[in-house]
Amino acid sequence: MTNYEPTQIYPLPQEPWVKLANGSELKSWSREDEIAYNQANRQAQKLSFYRQAFDFLTENQVKGDYHEYGCHRVRTFRMALTEARRHNLSDMKFMAFDSFEGLPEVESSPSVELWQKGNLLTTEEQFWSIIKDHDIYVENCQTIKGFYDQTLTNDLQAQFLQKEDKIALACIDCDLYESVVPVFQFIEPLLQEGSLLYIDEIFNGYKGSPVKGVSKAFNEFQEKSRFKFAPHIQIGWWGRSFIAYLDN
Ligand SMILES: C[S@@+](CC[C@H](N)C(=O)[O-])C[C@H]1O[C@@H](n2cnc3c(N)ncnc32)[C@H](O)[C@@H]1O
Repeated sequence: MTNYEPTQIYPLPQEPWVKLANGSELKSWSREDEIAYNQANRQAQKLSFYRQAFDFLTENQVKGDYHEYGCHRVRTFRMALTEARRHNLSDMKFMAFDSFEGLPEVESSPSVELWQKGNLLTTEEQFWSIIKDHDIYVENCQTIKGFYDQTLTNDLQAQFLQKEDKIALACIDCDLYESVVPVFQFIEPLLQEGSLLYIDEIFNGYKGSPVKGVSKAFNEFQEKSRFKFAPHIQIGWWGRSFIAYLDN
């Protein structure tokens, strides 16, 4: 590994104007280093998004809950808890929707090798252990275990609506076209003006195509929704947030 923080960009007062690792620094660079480098870069960009998102919600008085569809290693879920705590959002509820059995049977043809049935598995028990360890708003967290085509029912939707539990921020991070279709359908009545949607795979999984995979599902959803969605923050090369708004 290099002896400086790889997620940082260091300006230089001379050519090439930014610090670049050279051959001797990368001499023993391994696949493990590559993974750690990518993950550190990616998670840093996600955290930057969560900081901005919670600032946006607070500044604009968008009240409601946090929903996450695809929780796996609890990385983004913990970011939400930390940033909610920083904004003193003690009334916010944090809903974790996941099979806790990894990915379902894959029906579409994603371009990511890892996206196969049973991969990306974190059990519900492991999820709670991480949440308890993180120790922020634990009592406000709830898991909804199961595959979305089974769990995202009209009854569950009605329960949210009855309690007037609206979405302030939804993180949609479940990779596959077939996984996000029921998610969009489920959340539509729970949205309000100012709800933020963070869609993690807008440019990932189907060779970045804006008309395949998760992007395709989002395009289809936008045609049906009573809301319009303003492109908001770009998250790395893969994700994007959108602000739900009404144009009447
Ligand atoms: C990329 S991981 C989520 C990463 C997570 N946001 C994090 O920061 O650690 C994708 C998750 O989506 C879940 N998932 C994908 N499709 C699903 C479906 N149809 N029903 C339930 N869970 C699903 C998987 O179980 C997995 O935990």
